[in-house]
Amino acid sequence: MACPPIEANPINAGFGAVVTGVDLADLAAQTSDALLELAHRYAVLVFPGQFLSDDEHLAFARRFGPLERALNSRSDTRFSRLSSVRSNGDLVTANSMVARMLESNMVWHTDSSFKPIPSTFSLLSCKEAATSGGETEFADLRAAWDALDPDQQAHLDGRRAVHSYRWSQEQADSADWLSEEDWAALPPVEQPLVRTHPATGRRNLYLGRHAVQVVGEDPEASRRFLAELCDWACQPPRIFAHRWSAGDLVMWDNRCVAHRGRPFPYGQRRIMVRATVAGAPPPGGDNPWVLD
Ligand code: OGA
Ligand code: MN
Repeated sequence: MACPPIEANPINAGFGAVVTGVDLADLAAQTSDALLELAHRYAVLVFPGQFLSDDEHLAFARRFGPLERALNSRSDTRFSRLSSVRSNGDLVTANSMVARMLESNMVWHTDSSFKPIPSTFSLLSCKEAATSGGETEFADLRAAWDALDPDQQAHLDGRRAVHSYRWSQEQADSADWLSEEDWAALPPVEQPLVRTHPATGRRNLYLGRHAVQVVGEDPEASRRFLAELCDWACQPPRIFAHRWSAGDLVMWDNRCVAHRGRPFPYGQRRIMVRATVAGAPPPGGDNPWVLD
């Protein structure tokens, strides 16, 4: 029987597409090549109604490279689980440690920018959607770069920012969800403020909540500058929100897209699971976060 053709319907934000006509649990190799091309073009791919098991989710993510280890060594190392339901079945309550951790994701960021080699793709699967709120918003940092005038681009190009997960979790009052041992593996790192995507050659801003300061500049002033630049970058017409339904999987490219969770009332169930594809080290280098 012939497979239905893959269809990619662009989202009306200049990036992002809804992809149908594909079963992510049962993909031919050439289909995952075609999806990688779509991911490079659109930067965010929404796959409705996939209902992947954990194993299918991991297998699909591995098509795009080795996976990254999750941060919290006390929990599952293959997935980042974002859940409003605790392991004992109770719902998370406002101001609890888990609530503060979930809220830390409600500030614009790109996943693992605080690791020496940041991730390429994140693949977030919705097990249970909140009945109100709980969308995930995306911002196109390529379009943000393109919207800067040449003087502003020249000012930013070549600069580097310090990214620190400990600092950003402290801002969100949720540094206590990692142990001192976990923190020891996460010292601050430097990243370029402007990146060139290795597959497309497009340039983009690279910043978000983990970016503490511009290297070599006044800490306070450059922190404010980065926050203002991020606020400006993550604005219409460069953003869209995905409203989740159970079974959806969304894949985004952390190298050129920022995202944030939107609030939802505590007392609702919202269960999300994320697999993350590790960035490739430079020739001869090593990425200590690759999951073996
Ligand atoms: C993530 C994330 C936001 C959300 O999974 O990396 O930031 O909406 N999620 O759950
Ligand atoms: Mn995230």
